[in-house]
Amino acid sequence: MKLFVTGGAGYIGSHCVLRLLQEGHEVVIFDNFNEGSHETVQTLSSLKLPGQLIDILEGDLLHPEDLQKAFSNHSFDAVFHFAALARVEESVQHPELYYRHNVVGTLNLLEAMRQFNIKRIIFSSTAAVYGEPQYTPVDERHPLNPVSPYGRSKQIAESIIQDFDRAYGIRSVCLRYFNVVGASSLRLIHAALGISETFSVFGTDYPTRDGTCVRDYISVEDLIDAHVKALDFLLQKDCSEIFNLGTERGCTVREVFAICEYVLGKKIPIAEKSRRPGDPAYLLASSQKAKDILHWQLQQSLEDAFNWAYAWEQKKTKC
Ligand SMILES: NC(=O)c1ccc[n+]([C@@H]2O[C@H](COP(=O)([O-])OP(=O)(O)OC[C@H]3O[C@@H](n4cnc5c(N)ncnc54)[C@H](O)[C@@H]3O)[C@@H](O)[C@H]2O)c1
Repeated sequence: MKLFVTGGAGYIGSHCVLRLLQEGHEVVIFDNFNEGSHETVQTLSSLKLPGQLIDILEGDLLHPEDLQKAFSNHSFDAVFHFAALARVEESVQHPELYYRHNVVGTLNLLEAMRQFNIKRIIFSSTAAVYGEPQYTPVDERHPLNPVSPYGRSKQIAESIIQDFDRAYGIRSVCLRYFNVVGASSLRLIHAALGISETFSVFGTDYPTRDGTCVRDYISVEDLIDAHVKALDFLLQKDCSEIFNLGTERGCTVREVFAICEYVLGKKIPIAEKSRRPGDPAYLLASSQKAKDILHWQLQQSLEDAFNWAYAWEQKKTKC
């Protein structure tokens, strides 16, 4: 298969590219490199099999001509759409950036897909589309009530994707990630390694076993496994679906710190802060639908996940 990966130089996208190459696919990475890493894509290029295509395009979803150029030069079987801005707090301060990159960017991508007759998209969505949970574990039928511009930008992007399905037959799998280990945990690792100063814990008086929020942490490896299964789903079925990706196992923020400190053998400097508005005490995913339909199975423990994230960070530091 020939696959187009937006945001393929970012944290989750680059893990996906690695796995797609390992599965023998041809991959074109499209990234503006605002957050993505040139070193990471160079490493990925060096891992390809002889004769296997990996192309790296520096382009922006906000420039439709960049997409036109990419789609004129290749014919793609599917698109993995990771490219987005993804910081909740930043989205509150600069909502315009989030609506531009995450909504307009997705619209431009779909418009180019329609024009070039590309019929499959796997979209990185988020548990932030649910907002404060009315019940937990949260399943895909839970009402959508995002509390941040980030969550709203992803909800709107999902709606546009569904409209393009109805109008133009572009089939999609929207994957709503819960807390991805590695992405946020890289900040923990940086704190422990002294690269950043302290790690803030927001709220220590929640009605949980140690007072900190309980969240559902999923390893990037298990997450990527679901993407590969989502591609198989789209190749086999002529329909679109939405799946939560989480573990249904809750971990408090303090427990995560303890695991991270154990893996790194270092103390993490913590600053305890008051609760943030809109942060619920418990947020757990029901991923039963992904298990039933995608036949997705969790493979990694939280400790494995942190070990992986740490190894990844060390590799990056050496690049
Ligand atoms: N990290 C998490 O915990 C988490 C949780 C839920 C959902 N997600 C979603 O997963 C996806 C990947 O997240 P990540 O943690 O790897 O983030 P990341 O910032 O590491 O990767 C995003 C990539 O997209 C690129 N990009 C952004 N805007 C672009 C544009 N307009 N044109 C081209 N490239 C652009 C960036 O340069 C970056 O390389 C995002 O869509 C994010 O919303 C992440």
